Amino acid sequence: MDVATALDRLPKVELHCHIEGTMRPATVVELARKNGIALSTADPTELYRYSNLDTFLEIFWLVQSTLGSREDWARLAYESIVDGAAHGLVYRESFFTPARHLDAGQDLADIVAGLADGLAAAEGETGARAMLIADIDRAYGGAAGRQMVERLSELRQAGSPGVERVIGVGLDSTEIGVDPTDFADAFELAGKAGLHRTSHQGEETPPSYIRLGLDVLGSERIDHGLSSLQDPELTRRLAGERIPLTVCPNSNVVIANAVPRLELHPYPRMREAGLLATLNTDDPALTDMDLGREYRSCMEAFDYRWPDMVEIALDGVEATWLDDGGKRDLRARIERDAAALGQGLDRG
Ligand code: ADE
Ligand code: ZN
Repeated sequence: MDVATALDRLPKVELHCHIEGTMRPATVVELARKNGIALSTADPTELYRYSNLDTFLEIFWLVQSTLGSREDWARLAYESIVDGAAHGLVYRESFFTPARHLDAGQDLADIVAGLADGLAAAEGETGARAMLIADIDRAYGGAAGRQMVERLSELRQAGSPGVERVIGVGLDSTEIGVDPTDFADAFELAGKAGLHRTSHQGEETPPSYIRLGLDVLGSERIDHGLSSLQDPELTRRLAGERIPLTVCPNSNVVIANAVPRLELHPYPRMREAGLLATLNTDDPALTDMDLGREYRSCMEAFDYRWPDMVEIALDGVEATWLDDGGKRDLRARIERDAAALGQGLDRG
């Protein structure tokens, strides 16, 4: 078997993937038509070229705006896991960012219920498992973030359908010029409600933002954390405390344009520095990517060997919010399948 196929089949977890960024182009077209959203082209992939995070977000927001009902969210979630599982995904903690939909009058209860419906259907079909992280959209500000967390807490108390899938909150969208401390209230409330916390930091911003994500927002993980190595003391702390970074190397090239070529990405240096740097796709359908190719392209670009890739997959498990038993089971599965796949690899 060639290594590309083996990497595609290797069981993998993913902790940094926006569910809206997995929407199939055909689904974008169908939902846009159904919900009266104007697309300037019959082929949305023509729009998928970005010069920085904000130009990407304009397209991401357009794609998001096609989701109009519980059924639409269910379809998105179903297709997202089916497509991921086709490339070795076995467990995902997936972001969804409902600010724009809540602003337009959708109810968080319907969004969560729809997502949970779709995830359950896909789990039954594929065996992959998926949980959700409700992301606050920085562009909507701290008050909207707090309202979202309050509503989520209400739904948890009421046992609203599917809400048990939402295991944490996150923070995404535009970074530059937004003060992370505006979201301290929302994050504090989330912590009190027993939700995990993570935040996008250091995609386009310096290490000081990563520190704020940890110290002011109480983030247990940092999404991207691309600028970590610029601060040696922060790097020592992240490594020493095994704080996971959910790194998305291809995204950093294609979306943020923060790195000119994959070969120049600091990922290998991050791992050499002892960082728990996991591998993720971010927005695979908007960047022509999948998790198997994310692994393969990184293996080639960073001159990694098969055991390095297995170690990266296992680090993904460590970084999940699964309980110890869940982590043990997943680790065992990856080790078993990796050994079998490794045996069958083409040599030479
Ligand atoms: N939303 C979707 N993808 C994102 C990214 N890479 N950074 C911030 N917000 C996002
Ligand atoms: Zn992201």
